[in-house]
Amino acid sequence: MRLRGRKGIREDIERQKELVVMNAKDHKGKWAELFGNNNPIHAELGMGKGRFISEMSKKYPHINFIGVDMYDELIRKASEKAKVAHEIQSEEETESGFNIPNLKFMLFNIEHIEEAFADGELERVYLNFSDPWPKKKHARRRLTHPGFVEKYKQILNANGEIHLKTDSQSLFEFSLNSFADMGLRMRNISLNLHVDGIHPDHVMTEYETKFAGQGMNIHRCEVVIGQDALAAHLDQLSKPAAE
Ligand SMILES: C[S@@+](CC[C@H](N)C(=O)[O-])C[C@H]1O[C@@H](n2cnc3c(N)ncnc32)[C@H](O)[C@@H]1O
Repeated sequence: MRLRGRKGIREDIERQKELVVMNAKDHKGKWAELFGNNNPIHAELGMGKGRFISEMSKKYPHINFIGVDMYDELIRKASEKAKVAHEIQSEEETESGFNIPNLKFMLFNIEHIEEAFADGELERVYLNFSDPWPKKKHARRRLTHPGFVEKYKQILNANGEIHLKTDSQSLFEFSLNSFADMGLRMRNISLNLHVDGIHPDHVMTEYETKFAGQGMNIHRCEVVIGQDALAAHLDQLSKPAAE
């Protein structure tokens, strides 16, 4: 078997011009143009092998999805998964790969996320099983550190939300404290998301499948960021709870 080296993988993903965005900074403020519509844009930051974002894009065709990761190999794996999830036939593939109208993969380092998106360009950020960086001296690298959350606040729109899932209790505690310290409103907090079994409508990530399969608790919460999202949330709270 011929093993493809790093160069081969880079060539593979560079060829996939329809699906893979290598020059994200060039699209800052122009992602709607790239998708060809003004539908909301949801991004998974640190998508890994891309199962979640591919399945979400299939399930919700009127939302544009962007999967972000910094490793060539993961972008390539994600593009293979997207092809299978969207049942793309070989004859649909051209020199520049295949097109899924509401899905893009972006090779990028999240540390500079504000250089890829203009203010208010995204509606939702998904942080699924982000690296927990357990050592205190690495706290700034956690994707829920206030330094990162400030950037998400900037690029999210009036309906903006952050949705977080993790198996890591320490990252979850850190994240809740980080959101609370920033005065952000959280909702639907769960310490054991799959306590009653995995709901058939729930879209799983690769890590979630692995950890839930090992019997580990999955923690989840939503952070309400945008003004309109907050107003809708407060309005909902003001209504009497259904019996
Ligand atoms: C633990 S994996 C989780 C993957 C996937 N979300 C899941 O739940 O199966 C974390 C991912 O985040 C990516 N990642 C971590 N830090 C990143 C950064 N600064 N920029 C881009 N990707 C990053 C890693 O490459 C890895 O694929």
